[in-house]
Amino acid sequence: MEHFYYSWSAQSAGEKLPVDRAERDEFVLTDGRRIYDFICTSFQANFGHNFDPIRNRMVQQLAAMPIASPKTSFDLKRDVSGRLVDLISLGNGKIFYTVSGAESVENALKIARQVTGRPIVAARQKSYHGATLGALSVTGDWRNKPHLTFDQGTLRIPEHDQDPDLTRTEQLFLQTGPDNIAAVILETISGTNGMSIPDAEWFGRIQNLCRKYGCLLILDEVLVGFGRCGTDFAFQAYSLEPDLVCMSKAMTGGYIPFGAVWTSPKIASYYDTQTMSCGLTNYAHPLGLAALDGVISSLADPGFRDEMEELEECFRHNLEQLSRCNNVTGVRHRGLMAAIDLDQPAPTWKMGIEHELHFFSKENLVIIAPPYISTPRRLESAISALAHLLDS
Ligand SMILES: Cc1ncc(COP(=O)(O)O)c(C=O)c1O
Repeated sequence: MEHFYYSWSAQSAGEKLPVDRAERDEFVLTDGRRIYDFICTSFQANFGHNFDPIRNRMVQQLAAMPIASPKTSFDLKRDVSGRLVDLISLGNGKIFYTVSGAESVENALKIARQVTGRPIVAARQKSYHGATLGALSVTGDWRNKPHLTFDQGTLRIPEHDQDPDLTRTEQLFLQTGPDNIAAVILETISGTNGMSIPDAEWFGRIQNLCRKYGCLLILDEVLVGFGRCGTDFAFQAYSLEPDLVCMSKAMTGGYIPFGAVWTSPKIASYYDTQTMSCGLTNYAHPLGLAALDGVISSLADPGFRDEMEELEECFRHNLEQLSRCNNVTGVRHRGLMAAIDLDQPAPTWKMGIEHELHFFSKENLVIIAPPYISTPRRLESAISALAHLLDS
């Protein structure tokens, strides 16, 4: 008997991966099989499993100063925060550090309510924002249901395709009383709830609605941030100006649990005089900062970006193969992430492992998001293996 739990499943369900080690973009199982990590573990191992620019930076930091009090100021903390603010490219904001995606969302919700003095947050019907109670309260999927969440603080708004011109959404705002609405929270592009990609017009209308009623716009980029969708952050493809941006996962390549919330210059100046009543023991952990330094440097490296672009091109080209498979009704993609819709139940995670692929599937959907460090050849062979599975 193993004395630990597996998350999000009955313990007898048997979804276990007996791993010996991980190399580049693959898990090596205890029986020697190599499994291509087609969703970067849980969408965080975007730089693969042993990427020196992150690993070496962390080892250096471990030797120099592995722990720091939240009250400290030091070169790495100042430099990397400035570089992250530059990467966001929305002006002179500030970073609040956390240790996970859920905590980034929790803190963004707390900040939005504190800054506006309003209680309600509008959230999409299909969404995932993390497993803590505040983040679950704005989550729109089954994971919200079994828990005593704060749903009275949530206004559910329709999906973009159900209300493209926001007529219904604005009605809901007016019924709730816009003066009660602190913020709208959105995954810019949703992850495990179907990779739903709104168009620029819908995003523009959401931005305008927020401005009209004085609500803040919180973008959850926990899954899509740091290069996943072809730009450093997914919102950068839509000329959006969020007030808060939530990050985690690939922010350290997953090498250490870490997260952050970017806040706008306006929010930053609010806290010049008001108490920032948020905090945590491992705030701005030096090993997280060091890993983030490695991530930002890699994303800024022209050679690395060229290789990423080459991989994106290969991905785009080979996805056509998937769209021709039996039972595939559609393929959506952005950058290095794709959702494949089927007209029948998708192959299970276990079937994927049998075909030496680690992907996400639920209902009639498969999601793939290859590691940035894959070679085009390895990616092509993984897509062929998936096409074979879908056709079988
Ligand atoms: C969009 C989004 N937000 C928040 C989270 C929560 O992140 P974490 O599991 O690190 O708490 C996730 C996790 O999958 C996510 O996909």
